[in-house]
Amino acid sequence: MDKSEKIAFILSGMLLVLFFGGIMYAAVFEDIDVPTCITNMEPFESDTLFQTGPDSYELQLLARMWAFQPSEVRLPVGSTVDLYVTSQDIIHGFKIEGKNVNLMAVPGAINYMRVTFDEPGEYFFACHEFCGAAHHTMAGRIIIESEMTEGP
Ligand code: CUA
Repeated sequence: MDKSEKIAFILSGMLLVLFFGGIMYAAVFEDIDVPTCITNMEPFESDTLFQTGPDSYELQLLARMWAFQPSEVRLPVGSTVDLYVTSQDIIHGFKIEGKNVNLMAVPGAINYMRVTFDEPGEYFFACHEFCGAAHHTMAGRIIIESEMTEGP
Protein backbone atom coordinates (compact mmCIF):
# COMPACT_ATOMS: atom_id res chain seq x y z
CA MET A 1 0.00 0.00 0.00
CA ASP A 2 1.25 3.44 -0.96
CA LYS A 3 2.08 5.83 1.88
CA SER A 4 -0.50 8.43 0.77
CA GLU A 5 -3.12 5.67 0.61
CA LYS A 6 -2.25 4.62 4.12
CA ILE A 7 -2.59 8.20 5.38
CA ALA A 8 -5.98 8.62 3.64
CA PHE A 9 -7.09 5.29 5.08
CA ILE A 10 -6.09 6.24 8.64
CA LEU A 11 -7.59 9.76 8.33
CA SER A 12 -10.93 8.47 7.06
CA GLY A 13 -10.96 5.89 9.86
CA MET A 14 -10.34 8.61 12.42
CA LEU A 15 -13.12 10.77 10.93
CA LEU A 16 -15.49 7.80 11.06
CA VAL A 17 -14.77 7.33 14.76
CA LEU A 18 -15.11 11.09 15.37
CA PHE A 19 -18.49 11.36 13.61
CA PHE A 20 -19.83 8.23 15.25
CA GLY A 21 -18.65 9.53 18.63
CA GLY A 22 -20.37 12.85 17.93
CA ILE A 23 -23.65 11.14 17.09
CA MET A 24 -23.44 8.95 20.19
CA TYR A 25 -22.60 11.94 22.37
CA ALA A 26 -25.60 13.90 20.98
CA ALA A 27 -27.92 10.93 21.46
CA VAL A 28 -26.80 9.95 24.96
CA PHE A 29 -25.73 13.19 26.66
CA GLU A 30 -27.65 15.89 24.76
CA ASP A 31 -30.81 13.85 24.11
CA ILE A 32 -30.76 14.91 20.45
CA ASP A 33 -32.45 12.54 18.05
CA VAL A 34 -32.59 12.27 14.27
CA PRO A 35 -35.75 13.82 12.80
CA THR A 36 -38.62 11.40 13.06
CA CYS A 37 -41.62 10.84 10.91
CA ILE A 38 -44.71 12.80 11.97
CA THR A 39 -46.53 9.52 12.58
CA ASN A 40 -44.44 8.97 15.69
CA MET A 41 -46.53 11.72 17.24
CA GLU A 42 -50.03 11.91 18.67
CA PRO A 43 -52.70 11.32 17.52
CA PHE A 44 -51.47 8.78 14.96
CA GLU A 45 -50.03 6.72 17.80
CA SER A 46 -53.23 6.44 19.84
CA ASP A 47 -56.88 7.03 18.92
CA THR A 48 -57.36 6.78 15.20
CA LEU A 49 -61.09 7.36 15.08
CA PHE A 50 -63.09 9.66 17.26
CA GLN A 51 -66.37 11.50 17.16
CA THR A 52 -66.20 15.26 16.74
CA GLY A 53 -69.94 16.00 16.46
CA PRO A 54 -73.36 14.32 16.18
CA ASP A 55 -72.60 13.01 12.66
CA SER A 56 -68.96 13.86 12.28
CA TYR A 57 -65.83 11.87 12.92
CA GLU A 58 -62.12 12.27 12.62
CA LEU A 59 -60.12 9.39 11.22
CA GLN A 60 -56.35 9.20 11.14
CA LEU A 61 -55.18 6.63 8.71
CA LEU A 62 -51.64 5.38 8.79
CA ALA A 63 -50.21 3.64 5.74
CA ARG A 64 -47.17 1.41 5.95
CA MET A 65 -45.69 -1.58 4.18
CA TRP A 66 -48.13 -3.26 3.64
CA ALA A 67 -51.26 -2.36 5.51
CA PHE A 68 -53.47 0.46 6.58
CA GLN A 69 -54.03 1.21 10.22
CA PRO A 70 -56.91 0.88 10.92
CA SER A 71 -57.87 -1.47 8.11
CA GLU A 72 -61.53 -1.60 9.05
CA VAL A 73 -63.75 1.23 10.25
CA ARG A 74 -67.43 1.10 11.16
CA LEU A 75 -69.55 4.22 11.02
CA PRO A 76 -73.25 5.03 10.97
CA VAL A 77 -74.88 6.17 7.74
CA GLY A 78 -74.75 9.93 7.19
CA SER A 79 -71.34 10.27 8.78
CA THR A 80 -69.01 13.01 7.68
CA VAL A 81 -65.41 12.00 8.13
CA ASP A 82 -62.41 14.27 8.35
CA LEU A 83 -59.76 12.06 6.93
CA TYR A 84 -56.08 12.49 7.73
CA VAL A 85 -53.68 10.24 5.88
CA THR A 86 -49.97 9.76 6.35
CA SER A 87 -47.31 7.12 5.89
CA GLN A 88 -44.90 5.52 8.29
CA ASP A 89 -42.30 4.50 5.74
CA ILE A 90 -42.53 5.18 2.02
CA ILE A 91 -45.07 6.81 -0.31
CA HIS A 92 -48.37 5.01 -0.55
CA GLY A 93 -51.71 5.92 -2.04
CA PHE A 94 -55.19 5.94 -0.61
CA LYS A 95 -58.33 5.63 -2.68
CA ILE A 96 -61.87 4.85 -1.54
CA GLU A 97 -63.90 2.93 -4.07
CA GLY A 98 -67.06 4.75 -5.09
CA LYS A 99 -66.01 7.98 -3.40
CA ASN A 100 -64.17 11.02 -4.62
CA VAL A 101 -61.25 10.31 -2.31
CA ASN A 102 -57.78 9.92 -3.74
CA LEU A 103 -54.89 10.91 -1.52
CA MET A 104 -51.19 10.29 -1.30
CA ALA A 105 -49.80 8.91 1.93
CA VAL A 106 -46.47 10.64 2.32
CA PRO A 107 -44.04 10.11 5.20
CA GLY A 108 -43.58 13.29 7.19
CA ALA A 109 -46.72 14.92 5.82
CA ILE A 110 -50.45 14.66 6.48
CA ASN A 111 -52.99 14.86 3.69
CA TYR A 112 -56.56 15.80 4.41
CA MET A 113 -59.96 15.28 2.86
CA ARG A 114 -63.55 15.44 4.08
CA VAL A 115 -65.96 12.76 2.93
CA THR A 116 -69.62 12.06 3.68
CA PHE A 117 -71.16 8.61 3.55
CA ASP A 118 -74.86 8.96 2.71
CA GLU A 119 -75.40 5.36 1.64
CA PRO A 120 -74.93 2.28 3.81
CA GLY A 121 -72.58 -0.39 2.51
CA GLU A 122 -68.96 -1.43 2.32
CA TYR A 123 -66.50 1.03 0.88
CA PHE A 124 -63.24 -0.62 -0.01
CA PHE A 125 -60.07 1.37 0.07
CA ALA A 126 -56.69 0.44 -1.33
CA CYS A 127 -53.18 1.65 -1.92
CA HIS A 128 -52.88 2.86 -5.51
CA GLU A 129 -49.17 3.63 -5.52
CA PHE A 130 -46.83 0.74 -6.20
CA CYS A 131 -44.95 0.29 -2.94
CA GLY A 132 -43.25 -3.06 -3.16
CA ALA A 133 -43.76 -6.79 -2.98
CA ALA A 134 -47.09 -6.85 -1.13
CA HIS A 135 -48.57 -3.65 -2.59
CA HIS A 136 -51.59 -5.62 -3.81
CA THR A 137 -52.48 -6.64 -0.24
CA MET A 138 -52.72 -3.05 1.03
CA ALA A 139 -56.43 -2.59 1.40
CA GLY A 140 -59.21 -2.16 3.90
CA ARG A 141 -62.82 -1.14 4.16
CA ILE A 142 -65.14 1.38 5.70
CA ILE A 143 -68.41 -0.21 6.69
CA ILE A 144 -71.32 2.19 6.77
CA GLU A 145 -74.10 0.72 8.85
CA SER A 146 -77.69 1.80 8.54
CA GLU A 147 -78.20 1.32 12.27
CA MET A 148 -75.46 1.25 14.85
CA THR A 149 -75.90 -1.01 17.86
CA GLU A 150 -73.03 0.60 19.75
CA GLY A 151 -70.52 3.41 19.47
CA PRO A 152 -67.88 3.52 16.70
CU1 CUA B 1 -48.78 0.86 -0.36
CU2 CUA B 1 -48.95 0.26 -2.59
